[in-house]
Parts: sequence; structure tokens; C-alpha cells
Amino acid sequence: MMEKFMAWIDARFPATQMWEDHLSKYYAPKNFNFFYFFGSLALLVLVNQILTGIWLTMSFTPSAEEAFASVEYIMRDVEFGWIIRYLHSTGASAFFVVVYLHMFRGLLYGSYQKPRELVWIFGMLIYLCLMAEAFMGYLLPWGQMSYWGAQVIISLFGAIPLIGDDLTQWIRGDYLISGITLNRFFALHVIALPIVLLGLVVLHILALHEVGSNNPDGVDIKKHKDENGVPLDGIAFHPYYTVKDIVGVVVFLFVFCAVVFFFPEMGGYFLEKPNFEQANPFKTPEHIAPVWYFTPFYAILRAVPDKLLGVIAMGAAIAILFVLPWLDRSPVRSMRYKGWMSKIWLVVFCISFVILGVLGVLAPTPGRTLLSQICTALYFAYFILMPFYTRMEKTKPVPERVTG
Ligand code: HEM
Repeated sequence: MMEKFMAWIDARFPATQMWEDHLSKYYAPKNFNFFYFFGSLALLVLVNQILTGIWLTMSFTPSAEEAFASVEYIMRDVEFGWIIRYLHSTGASAFFVVVYLHMFRGLLYGSYQKPRELVWIFGMLIYLCLMAEAFMGYLLPWGQMSYWGAQVIISLFGAIPLIGDDLTQWIRGDYLISGITLNRFFALHVIALPIVLLGLVVLHILALHEVGSNNPDGVDIKKHKDENGVPLDGIAFHPYYTVKDIVGVVVFLFVFCAVVFFFPEMGGYFLEKPNFEQANPFKTPEHIAPVWYFTPFYAILRAVPDKLLGVIAMGAAIAILFVLPWLDRSPVRSMRYKGWMSKIWLVVFCISFVILGVLGVLAPTPGRTLLSQICTALYFAYFILMPFYTRMEKTKPVPERVTG
């Protein structure tokens, strides 16, 4: 029965073909490690955000008068509303934790290098889209930080010469952030950006499956194949990695649920304290800081004294990641076989990024501004000097086969 049914389907739609190409006959390197969990975890969090988002939308009212109260209504009166909301708000932070680790793996093993440039670029477009999605979502509960955070970020566009003022007005749809802004952010957050995000994720995975996955050794597993054309160092994604990924999912859900049930506000980092107060255009919070995943870029913005140059620096900090595949001139991919300069620069880059993240949360002082300037310089130096140190340094010989 089943065989007949599948034959009927396959004659009309490439179901078996797709299953084989992307799962049962997609041969992935057999030496995937811890860092390779985060792609599938990103998919899991994406599904969580979409499902909980649909249910939140059922009870949320996108108007300046009712948004804040409708979130309280979800939290107190809607059946299981509290858990749906906490799954969504914690999911937003979890998304960035997972995506930052996923990107770090790319830096560590040179996964952006030829022939995976497009995998990386689609990934970067996903990252941009994710930032826009998180930013717009944060306005929706219409709390004090929603309002004033959006105020700070939207006003940055005002720094652009000539068109700045008109542009900010166009984004807000009003002379100040109002219910109109809330309404359009809602439309973009629940429909426009999720569609783009899903499309980009499909392109990301298609591009990856076209060239095949990289691995912690950075060796090309397609060089050595058996008589059936199966890479000697490859194993079928399904069932081997589907089963392995379940282990990652269980551990992840354990930590994720602990946060959802016991620390949903995460000390004010996942849900900021001023956001428990309704937006008030006449009362600026004492200290405005974006959510933790934006703070490294916020610190770069504040490190530059001039507003326009600060905006340019912040934009450049993200834009430079797009050209990473062309900055790395190393003959090897993985950090395991790169020289000491690449290793030191990666450590310096990561430490600078974390320090910038911490500084972005804190109120500026002269000492902190100096530190953020040093870290901003180091952040950019990692990229700008990359073509030089990756070419100058002595690399280790790369093995023919994966090392297990
Ligand atoms: C919604 C967000 C994302 C999802 C769902 C996603 C999904 C995936 C999946 C399922 C894989 C294959 C499994 C793995 O290698 O871990 C993968 C690989 C990859 N992703 Fe992503 N990704 C996302 C965001 C990003 C971002 C932001 C970047 C970087 C800018 C990126 C760069 C890469 C690279 C370079 C690979 C290939 C890694 C390798 O083969 O070593 N991804 N992604």
C-alpha cells in the first residue's frame, strides 16, 4: 500500500528524490563536533518562534491604546498565554545565542571559504533579517523600553545627510513613534520578515547541500569516494545526524525550559525592567539600552563621537562580515591548521565583541568610552588585517582524510 502510494506521489512530485538528496543520501563528514549542533538548533528555535508567534497574534492587539494591556491579558487571562509569551520572548534571545555560536563555528573552521561563500552570504542576510525581526518585535509590547529603544534606533537614520529627517518620518509613518508605527511594525514582524527569513533559510540550506558541509578539519571529503560514489569520510545525514541532533535538541530544551520556567526575565537581560511599564512619550527612562544581542553594535555606535560616523561605523561592523570570504587568504580552512596569528586574532576579536556587548549595556563614562574605542579598533583590525596575516603566517599540513 505504502509503496504504491509513494509511487503515485513520486510520479507527480519529487518527494523520494528530495528525501534522498537532503537526508538519507546527503553524506555529511563523519567528524562533526559540538559546534555543528547549532544549525539544527537554529531551525528548532525558528519553528518555536513561528508557532508561539501565531498563538500570540491571536490575542495581541496592535494599537497604542491596547497593546500593553493585551500582553498583560495574554499573561494573566489567556489559557497558557504566559508560557506562549515566555517561549517567544526567551526564544528571541535563544535565537541569537544559537546563531552567534553557529557563526563562530564558521569563523573557527573557515566554513565561509570557497566554495561556501554563498552559504555564508545567505547566512548574513538571515542575520540582518533576524535583527530587523527582533527590533520590530520589541516595539510590540509597547513598554517604556520598546518605545524609547525604537526612538533611539529610528532617530539614527536622521543622521543621514539630506534625506535623514524625511526617512525617519517615513519609517515611523508619523511625526513621532505612535500607534501607526506600532501597526506597521506588527505587519512587518508577523508576516513580511518571517516570509523573507524562511525563504533565506531554504536558500541557505540549498546552497550548503549543493557544495556539501565543511567540517572541523576543513578537508574536502569529496576527494575520496568509494566505488558507489559515496565519500569515504561521509555518513548519511539520516539516520546518523538526525539521531545525533536529537541529543543536542534534548540538552538545548533542558536549558531553554529552565530559563522559560525559572528565569524568563533573565535578570532584566531577556525582558528589560522598564518594559513592565507602559510606553510614555513624556517620560524618558533613566538609562536606555537595547537588548543584549544588539549591544556590541550599540557600543560601536557610541564609541564614535560624531553621530553620522557612529552610524557608519555600526553599519560597517555588520557589512564587513559579508566580505569575510574574500578577506581570508589562507590556503587552509580550519583553525586547527592555521598559524598562530589567525588564532590570536580570532581570540582578540571574540574578546572585543564580548567586551563591547558588556559596554553597550552600561551607561557611558570616559573610561568606558575609551575601552569601547579600543575594542572597536580591534574588532575592525581582525577583518582589515586578515588578508595580511592569513597570507604571512605558516600553516600546518592538512591531512588527506578527516582525523576523527
Ligand atoms: C535562522 C538562522 C539560521 C538557520 C536556521 C541556519 C541553518 C543552518 C543549517 C541547518 C546548517 C547545516 C548544519 C550545520 O552546519 O550546523 C547551516 C550551515 C551553515 N550556516 Fe547557517 N543557519 C542560520 C543562520 C546562519 C548565519 C547567521 C550564518 C553566518 C552569517 C550562517 C552560516 C552558515 C555556514 C557557513 C554553514 C556551513 C557550515 C559548515 O559546513 O561548516 N548560518 N546553517
